[in-house]
Amino acid sequence: MTCDPWLKMVIAHHRFDLLNEADIIIICVPTPLKSMNQPDLSYVVSATREIAGRLKTNQLISLESTTFPGTTQEVVLPILESTGHTVGKDFFLAFSPERVDPGNKRYTTRDISKVIGGVTPMCRDVACAFYSQSMKQVVPVSSPAAAEMTKIFENTYRSVNIALVNEFMILCDRMGLDIWEVVDAAATKPFGIQTFYPGPGVGGHCIPVDPVYLAWKAKDYGFYTRFIDLAGEINMQASEYVVQKLAAILNKQKKCLNGARILVLGVAYKKDIDDIRESPALRIINFLQQNHAEVVYHDPNVPKFQLSGEHEGYMQSLNLTREEIAGADCVLILTDHSSIDYQWVAEHARLILDTRNATKNVRKGKDKITKI
Ligand SMILES: NC(=O)c1ccc[n+]([C@@H]2O[C@H](COP(=O)([O-])OP(=O)(O)OC[C@H]3O[C@@H](n4cnc5c(N)ncnc54)[C@H](O)[C@@H]3O)[C@@H](O)[C@H]2O)c1
Repeated sequence: MTCDPWLKMVIAHHRFDLLNEADIIIICVPTPLKSMNQPDLSYVVSATREIAGRLKTNQLISLESTTFPGTTQEVVLPILESTGHTVGKDFFLAFSPERVDPGNKRYTTRDISKVIGGVTPMCRDVACAFYSQSMKQVVPVSSPAAAEMTKIFENTYRSVNIALVNEFMILCDRMGLDIWEVVDAAATKPFGIQTFYPGPGVGGHCIPVDPVYLAWKAKDYGFYTRFIDLAGEINMQASEYVVQKLAAILNKQKKCLNGARILVLGVAYKKDIDDIRESPALRIINFLQQNHAEVVYHDPNVPKFQLSGEHEGYMQSLNLTREEIAGADCVLILTDHSSIDYQWVAEHARLILDTRNATKNVRKGKDKITKI
């Protein structure tokens, strides 16, 4: 089966009238959590209703939002079929997870295989025909639920492995070992290990959120996903550990968190991107402020952001000057953006707590640096 090369491509955002013109509709709306860690499918439901109101014969609808297994068939399909159209005959429905890694220059969207599960074999074939026009490889699976589970498995795999290395980070610190040295040495084994790095906790809208979608759904099956819960707990503990470690290194200087000026370097959830969703930096800044530290930050990619919680309000990135660095009781590196000259920072800082091994190549000023 081939696709018509003259298919119309429109980006609907909030122009739902354009849906009438489309042959293929991709739903990629947010799938956040509600309070009490419940999946919030309201964006998926509302987008699907907009499509249902305008559904036309032979349209392919592909859900790409990360969600628990069952969403496509149990949530999306009934809304579309309530129009009287039949799936696999009048319209086609598939789930194909978005697997993009923001900031990854090596693997772009096209390079990452597209996993596809259709509601019917015809739905799968139509979706495969569509995606194979633009992707290097498509990977059909037996159902939308299998494709939904694939995506959550990938994210849970990362969450669990990051938790493992974060736990080793805390233990290595207690034992006076350098976790970064241990991880790099372990990575020299040519098989049986994949490298994950420790850090101040996990962020982004995927890793901290998606496994929770599965944990919630698993309860319908009387199943308790212990790895997911434990990984979430340990990754959260990593953020708290950063604050404890910061208090400890200030204490050595006969200072306390209360009143200390902390310059946070990097608030994005990972290097070289501008996304702060679920960033551990936000949690850590909150903890520090609760302990009455004076927190300022610099992030070349995040000029300002809104902090929620007790100290709600906007924070603005300050210019990274020699004076700002020297004026801080401690520079706390939470994101290792490549554009920052860490050697220069080390030369002017009084103390540095580095949670990302950003200072690994620093030669002068090493004595001021504590790594976790
Ligand atoms: N961004 C990524 O790197 C990435 C990677 C893998 C998976 N995902 C998954 O993709 C989904 C979207 O993530 P995102 O980061 O692009 O989210 P996002 O917050 O950037 O929103 C995506 C788009 O949805 C639109 N939108 C919101 N509500 C809508 C509605 N009711 N109807 C129509 N459009 C609406 C928004 O205008 C926005 O353009 C999530 O399920 C996420 O887990 C994202």
